[in-house]
Amino acid sequence: MTRVFSGIKPTGHLTLGNYLGAMRQWAAVDQHRADALFCVVDLHALTVHHDPARVRRLSRQAATLLLASGLDPALCTLFVQSHVDEHARLSYLLECVATDGEMRRMIQYKEKAAREQRRGGSVRLSLLTYPVLMAADILAYGTDEVPVGHDQTQHVELARDLAVRFNQRYGHTFVVPRATNPSVAARVMNLQDPLSKMGKSDDTGPGIVYLLDEPDVARKKVMRAVTDSGRDVVYDRESRPGVANLLEILAACSGGNPEALAGVYESYGDLKRDAAEAVVEVLRPVRERHGELCADPGYVEGVLREGAERARGMARPTVDAAYRAIGLLPAGSDTGAPVLNAVR
Ligand code: AMP
Ligand code: TRP
Repeated sequence: MTRVFSGIKPTGHLTLGNYLGAMRQWAAVDQHRADALFCVVDLHALTVHHDPARVRRLSRQAATLLLASGLDPALCTLFVQSHVDEHARLSYLLECVATDGEMRRMIQYKEKAAREQRRGGSVRLSLLTYPVLMAADILAYGTDEVPVGHDQTQHVELARDLAVRFNQRYGHTFVVPRATNPSVAARVMNLQDPLSKMGKSDDTGPGIVYLLDEPDVARKKVMRAVTDSGRDVVYDRESRPGVANLLEILAACSGGNPEALAGVYESYGDLKRDAAEAVVEVLRPVRERHGELCADPGYVEGVLREGAERARGMARPTVDAAYRAIGLLPAGSDTGAPVLNAVR
């Protein structure tokens, strides 16, 4: 069975972008067709300035929202990254395979480091090495497919490169993964700045619809979305990014196609109204289920405990095999799983 792994960072409240670009697909498709693991990647939230209490709160909230979006612990494995030591263990080995130049070429690193420097802050070393930890997340589980938004494609490519390089040098240890993107809404843009991604870590609230926004708040944000000059509704990401974003959001929420929908609308106002309603309706069941789950925190904790146990059992043999393949002396507690075709 295909092994699928994906993760979400607890760096902010989850957004419509996370939902349409990732979570919805995980629940509706991936957990049914594959042996799927979904992870709240809390270690990744420490790569930029963070408040410990907030990260803890957001981690619990992200797990609850993933369940509210329809992830079913009977079908998939849901867990928190820091509960499974194998991620950090493997990350170090992969740092010994990755190169400094490779890390500095990562687009997200360049953008985030530049932003941090503009603010006069310092760049944490973990921001540079973060894609290696992400590669460890993926490779520890023998992952075949990584469903992510387009912004993560370069990181998954790195995981591929590291898997291939490690296998060539030290013997076949890792499955070589590939990224998969959802067909619509792989990139939901900020409603106030349609040239930037709707990202949860940004602070520009009015352009971001959060999954837990009250319906009226979500509606207002869509109604106030920046549109483009011109009046006719055409689908063109280049010249009309604001309108294209609204068409894509509406298409993703209502099951339509952005090009076909463009022909249906005479004015921006009508498009906004329908997009706003579609967003409110898509988020309604998620908010409701989130409310129910919050009333039962013991349930969510139990799911995460069992998820971590299952994940540990899956990752351990692969990570132990990598330790042996790269030349480290086995410890007594080693699982003793065979290293495939390893160079000894
Ligand atoms: P992150 O918010 O960076 O932890 O991303 C979690 C998942 O949501 C990843 O698969 C991202 O690619 C996806 N994602 C985040 N923001 C967006 C967005 N605005 N549009 C589409 N997908 C997104
Ligand atoms: N870096 C991803 C993001 O910012 C989150 C992530 C961490 C991830 N580890 C992963 C996604 C492993 C897929 C697989 O969205």
